[in-house]
Amino acid sequence: MPDLDPKPGLAPQEHMLPAERVARVQPFIVMDVMNQAAAIERAGGSVVHMEVGQPSAPTPASIRGAAARALEHGRIGYTQALGTDSLRARIAKHYQDAYGVDVAAERVVVTTGSSGGFILAFLACFQPGARIAITAPGYPAYRNILIALGFEPVAIEVGPETRFALTPELIARAHREKPLAGVLTMSPANPTGVVMAPEAIAAVAAECRRLGLWYISDEIYHGLTYEQPATTALSADPDAIVVNSFSKYYCMTGWRVGWLIVPQRLVRTIERLQQNLSISVPYLSQVAGEAAFEATAECEAIKAGYAENRAYLLNALPEIGLGDFLPVDGAFYIYCDIGRYSNDSMAFCRDVLNEAGVAITPGLDFDEGRGARTARLSFAGSLGECEEAVSRLGGWLKRR
Ligand SMILES: Cc1ncc(COP(=O)(O)O)c(C=O)c1O
Repeated sequence: MPDLDPKPGLAPQEHMLPAERVARVQPFIVMDVMNQAAAIERAGGSVVHMEVGQPSAPTPASIRGAAARALEHGRIGYTQALGTDSLRARIAKHYQDAYGVDVAAERVVVTTGSSGGFILAFLACFQPGARIAITAPGYPAYRNILIALGFEPVAIEVGPETRFALTPELIARAHREKPLAGVLTMSPANPTGVVMAPEAIAAVAAECRRLGLWYISDEIYHGLTYEQPATTALSADPDAIVVNSFSKYYCMTGWRVGWLIVPQRLVRTIERLQQNLSISVPYLSQVAGEAAFEATAECEAIKAGYAENRAYLLNALPEIGLGDFLPVDGAFYIYCDIGRYSNDSMAFCRDVLNEAGVAITPGLDFDEGRGARTARLSFAGSLGECEEAVSRLGGWLKRR
């Protein structure tokens, strides 16, 4: 009989370590900050939450009502792997209504939040080891999902000279160094809040096309813009893969429902993946998603609150010595330079939390290279919370 123990003498569990590839998956630091803030609150302390990237407003009542009626109805079963026909059709219509772009319902894939959409899109498009360009600063899960799936994120540092976005030149340079297979952009962006101009998106799309790269556009913060509306990559290139979600504008983070728009030739591949990976997206969440498109008045009222918070913070933060940030075009984040106070954003945010009672997120979550000198503040809460945060932060910065 063959010896089944590769290292005789070790207990079986000692061979059973996590896969090496996954050891490179970093924690999502903001989730750790949330845990620390919760511990302070459990111990009776008070925390103003500016760390979380989610609306503090509840899901609009009309959306919850639609889900409640479906729940009453009884049968909560699997749906088609690509999503219910009616939700896919409603999402397709949204592209006509919001952007004047024709999208066939067959190209819509309903996903478990945009997070589920990334997994499907990455698996469908890329060979093992493929290199995908992302921005630094950028949304940390891109890097970690890519690594977890066996791909190679290529973080390209972006700065004010390109309005914190990728450009054809940056993409071409990275591709020359070692070939890329894809490019992932987001607009409005997390953590910078920057919106890419239509020409900037068109230029990236054209460069991807020229180089034969997949272009994936994360549009999860669409709807949340304060100066001018965001452009969908589909208006520049019908072959772009668009990732979107009900989480942010529609205040539905916990429902875990989003969508992809993909070229027709990927639909069957993605259907096979979804059938096997999750069978389908939760039915109730799909019902809620469909109702979300009719909740515009409620969503706009919530957005008006963010706009008020934004206007307040853009004035108030410079007055307390935190004035070095980008114009906040969209989303609900302010990405601040804290370099005059600290070059260790983890320690800075820990002290702000423990001593000032304000939870903010260290820039290292978004930029491994330069994030030691930055922090992200989310203004998805109420104006009262923003005022309280400024008062606590201002006092703390003066005292230290
Ligand atoms: C840029 C960006 N993309 C995607 C996501 C994931 O969102 P969800 O999976 O809830 O759709 C987030 C969440 O914060 C985000 O900021």
